[in-house]
Amino acid sequence: MHLPTRRLGQRVLHFQELDSTNTLALAMADEPENDGVVVRADQQAGGRGQYGRTWTAPAQSSVLLSVLLFPPPRLRRPVLLTAWAAVAVCETVWRVAGMQAKIKWPNDILVQGKKVCGILIEQRNTGRAEQPLAAVAGIGLNVCQSAEWFAQAMLPQAGSLCSLSGAQLETQCVADALIGRLDEEYDRMLEGDTHTLEACWKWRVGLLGKVVKIELAHETRTGRLLEVAFDQVVVQTEDGERSQWTPEQIRHIDPA
Ligand code: BTN
Repeated sequence: MHLPTRRLGQRVLHFQELDSTNTLALAMADEPENDGVVVRADQQAGGRGQYGRTWTAPAQSSVLLSVLLFPPPRLRRPVLLTAWAAVAVCETVWRVAGMQAKIKWPNDILVQGKKVCGILIEQRNTGRAEQPLAAVAGIGLNVCQSAEWFAQAMLPQAGSLCSLSGAQLETQCVADALIGRLDEEYDRMLEGDTHTLEACWKWRVGLLGKVVKIELAHETRTGRLLEVAFDQVVVQTEDGERSQWTPEQIRHIDPA
């Protein structure tokens, strides 16, 4: 399939069933002409989530897709790729379902407090001098599952766009809208503008001015969140001291 996009989704490979769209997209990184290809599946037998978890969804209930990219060095930072995918999902949710979505650090998308989408960014070496690194952004967006399905699957914190909005939505339309947003945002980043993305990401992460818990690799810190930016996250602790980290150093940010 071919979408009227600038770069991403010029080729969409759509399968009824796959093991994992991320696994196939990563395997396609050997060929430079696969830049921008989108791999979609109606169902995955071995969908992969963060921290080695599995990602399950009933057949045709969700948008399950992976985008393969060969980003230039300045766009290879995990925080940029994560923010890019997360903001594109949030804006798609607004367009197709009229609901505001928030980003739960680092890459869960919440609507009305329920997780509707998970994002898995993976990178691999290609062995090619001109494009040494490939990145795959895997997105699982719940569209049609009912509230009962989430209860039976013991996923009380999750929801779908249909169950939360009451709207009837087709996965195909949601997938096309999402690929369009990803393409537009990626093009803007390639043109050199990451500030627009940063502003949208900051707003969707929210929590500025709130007291938060920052989970780092070996400790957790609590303080008021003063800044969330691509180069630094700044927190002021109760004693007035300021601490700052790069986004990549932070595992989770939650309201305290
Ligand atoms: C998470 O754990 O929240 C991330 C879930 C990512 C799931 C998506 S579904 C499409 C793509 N293919 C995979 O195997 N995983 C990602």
